[in-house]
Amino acid sequence: MNTSDELAALLRHFGREGCSQEPLYVALCGLAAESDSALALLAEAPPEQRKPNLLLAALHERVLAGAAPELAAYYRSAGGERAPDTGLAAALAACLVREWPALVDHLRHGATQTNEVARGAALWPALGAVAAATGVRDVALLDFGCSAGLNLGIDQFALRYQTDDGAWHARGPARDGVRAEVESRWLSATRPPPHTGWRIASRDGLDTAPVDVADPAGLRWLQACLWPHDARRRERLSRAAAQLRALPHTLTQAGDCIAAIEPWLAHLPAGVQPVLLTSWVLYYLSEADIARLRATVDRLALRHGLAWICGELPALSAQAHEPPPLPALPPGEVAASATLWTLRHRDAGRIAERALAWSHPHGRWLHWLG
Ligand SMILES: C[S@@+](CC[C@H](N)C(=O)[O-])C[C@H]1O[C@@H](n2cnc3c(N)ncnc32)[C@H](O)[C@@H]1O
Repeated sequence: MNTSDELAALLRHFGREGCSQEPLYVALCGLAAESDSALALLAEAPPEQRKPNLLLAALHERVLAGAAPELAAYYRSAGGERAPDTGLAAALAACLVREWPALVDHLRHGATQTNEVARGAALWPALGAVAAATGVRDVALLDFGCSAGLNLGIDQFALRYQTDDGAWHARGPARDGVRAEVESRWLSATRPPPHTGWRIASRDGLDTAPVDVADPAGLRWLQACLWPHDARRRERLSRAAAQLRALPHTLTQAGDCIAAIEPWLAHLPAGVQPVLLTSWVLYYLSEADIARLRATVDRLALRHGLAWICGELPALSAQAHEPPPLPALPPGEVAASATLWTLRHRDAGRIAERALAWSHPHGRWLHWLG
């Protein structure tokens, strides 16, 4: 059990190190660390979820629901323009008192569930690499730890990569003001690969707690997990959600998602290439479950040709080899959460693995290794 002092220290640390680009959150973390009610609220979360960003997402959700007008004045996401000032403490206190039951519910049962479609900057060429490696163009995509499953719409997003010379390279469908737009700095010397003709034949997601984008409360929770100032991420999420609603897909809740992979394979039509995607989900699995997932995927690769695109922290994604060296990053970018994308598949009856790319965890930059 954390003491109030420990929770206050956690909030102060997050305010200093975890959200320095969001002045509102820096101020809220400082105030929450001094507030008995805010500390009691954080203590409501199960120990593994007792994180400042869950508290901040819960407050943000109340703001987006229109239930915290005093706080909304400070949230760009709710049209607020007020910079953090001496009135923020009273606004926080009022929200904590009035919205206590809803806030406690978020802390007890919620989890910050980022579903970042800009990871598609890496997923798009990775699907091309699968098609090149297997010779099959029709992909059956299974997104494991899919959150709302937004990455299942990867072929519908307008992507563009900016190379060092400042030129933009568009991939996927053209921008039309409606599609989700993904932009990424392309750090490799080679140009972004062209489309190789792969198609997504079916789209399925698995999660212990999938989010239904047709449910306004579910979508609001995803928005609440974003930082309030970030209008571009907010718009990308809304657009990707609208696109996914229009696409045939399934999202399945499973207590044991690893056990659900083989039954999924059994129902695929002949001639499609099954592809398992994991992006920023292994981080949440126990060591035993990661080992079980790896053994399951290798068995299914050998027996059914399952290919695995894995975008995670390097210690989690690289199995066969040491991670390749990181590229020189653009100014202001840090290597701490760099994501290593790997492809593991059956090749001549054996398991082959290679590193495909390094990327920013939210796709802001990409170093394609091929
Ligand atoms: C950070 S989100 C990543 C979502 C998505 N893959 C993406 O790249 O945006 C992590 C997701 O993993 C899910 N998750 C956590 N533990 C899981 C498990 N044991 N099996 C399957 N999904 C899990 C969470 O519910 C959450 O939706």
